[in-house]
Amino acid sequence: MTATMKLVSRVRRLGCVLAFCFLALFLWGLRVARALDNGLAMTPTMGWLHWERFMCNVNCQEEPDSCVSEKLFLQIAEIMASDGWKDVGYEYLCIDDCWMAPERDSEGRLQADSKRFPGGIRRLANYVHSKGLKLGIYADVGNKTCAGFPGSFGYYDIDAETFADWGVDLLKFDGCYCDSIKHLADGYKHMSLALNRTGRSIVYSCEWPLYMWPIFKPNYTEIREYCNHWRNFADVYDSWQSIRSILDWTTSNQERIVPVAGPGGWNDPDMLVIGNFGLSRDQQITQMALWAIMAAPLLMSNDLRHISLEAKALLQDKDVIAINQDPLGKQGYRLRKEDNFEVWERPLSNLAWAVAMVNLQEIGGPRSYTISLTSLGQGLACNPDCLITQLLPVKRKLGFYEWTSSLKTQINPTGTVLLRLERAS
Ligand code: GAL
Repeated sequence: MTATMKLVSRVRRLGCVLAFCFLALFLWGLRVARALDNGLAMTPTMGWLHWERFMCNVNCQEEPDSCVSEKLFLQIAEIMASDGWKDVGYEYLCIDDCWMAPERDSEGRLQADSKRFPGGIRRLANYVHSKGLKLGIYADVGNKTCAGFPGSFGYYDIDAETFADWGVDLLKFDGCYCDSIKHLADGYKHMSLALNRTGRSIVYSCEWPLYMWPIFKPNYTEIREYCNHWRNFADVYDSWQSIRSILDWTTSNQERIVPVAGPGGWNDPDMLVIGNFGLSRDQQITQMALWAIMAAPLLMSNDLRHISLEAKALLQDKDVIAINQDPLGKQGYRLRKEDNFEVWERPLSNLAWAVAMVNLQEIGGPRSYTISLTSLGQGLACNPDCLITQLLPVKRKLGFYEWTSSLKTQINPTGTVLLRLERAS
């Protein structure tokens, strides 16, 4: 080989090495871009959020026990720590809208309403932390919050710093009063980066896609790069109609939203309303089972000071929570709908699967539904055989099943049977 040939071949080799380096860097960049890189929400966030149950009740004179005040959060924190909630994973105690004073302080910082939060947010955060819990707070990307309190537009950095300084651990960032889709996107991104810059670990809960849908189809890949969870659809109400509409929206959009969920970033179908007034026992079971299948944040909005033992047991069901919190972090989806039954499934770690069967018929009594096991988990859930445990409505070991067998269940109107399938061999 001549000296010139050797040089050419060395240059080529160097070129290949460099190309490989660029490719590796590019792929690494793609990997990083996939989820908000704050190391948080590796499983869906669990906790309590005041909105659905307590809304914007600021009348502490007449309703001291149910107005949005420091007292409410101190009491709920105490109960979360002492009544087993924290032990099963409900960790974030979150304040929603209506905590603020109507004006910022002289230095442009947000401040809590001094009558309802006399100790301020920092002291509340200290108390919440002393109970082994974390504190969430609420703000808005636009000019005002949805209830008309000061918005963060133009103040993203100072608000992020204020929250970090107070010891806040989660921010729910709403999207009201934002005057353009560009401001909405820029604002959500800006706040994400501002929170990261504080150096404090703060879960970032967005409503970005919800406010985009009427105008554009959201770019979920981008949203996932900035948010730990994101609301897609209208607010949950304490009614079966509301739960159904959330499930219907989810199934209609599942091709788009299911693949983007995973450790660090989750679709948020809104709060659990179990333990309130509007859902029957079966409907509460349906919400708990489907929120587990959907890998949804489990943020309860109820009054933990007055909750039935039944609702408490359902919300604290460790087997169902384990499905929600499964480390594989894949969101489930609706597999089929027939004769007013829906079958949902979710892949779990160790090749296990969760399966939920919902009876959507709102007339008559319990109906039986038979499912062939070959059809579950892309043909793999029970292949060649599996152990099946029914988790809801009551826990029951159903035993050993072969791939070619079928399973018959009875499901109450608007109720759900939730199963866990595990490989037997
Ligand atoms: C809504 C939001 C609710 C609640 C409310 C507060 O836009 O979706 O979850 O935060 O604002 O005003």
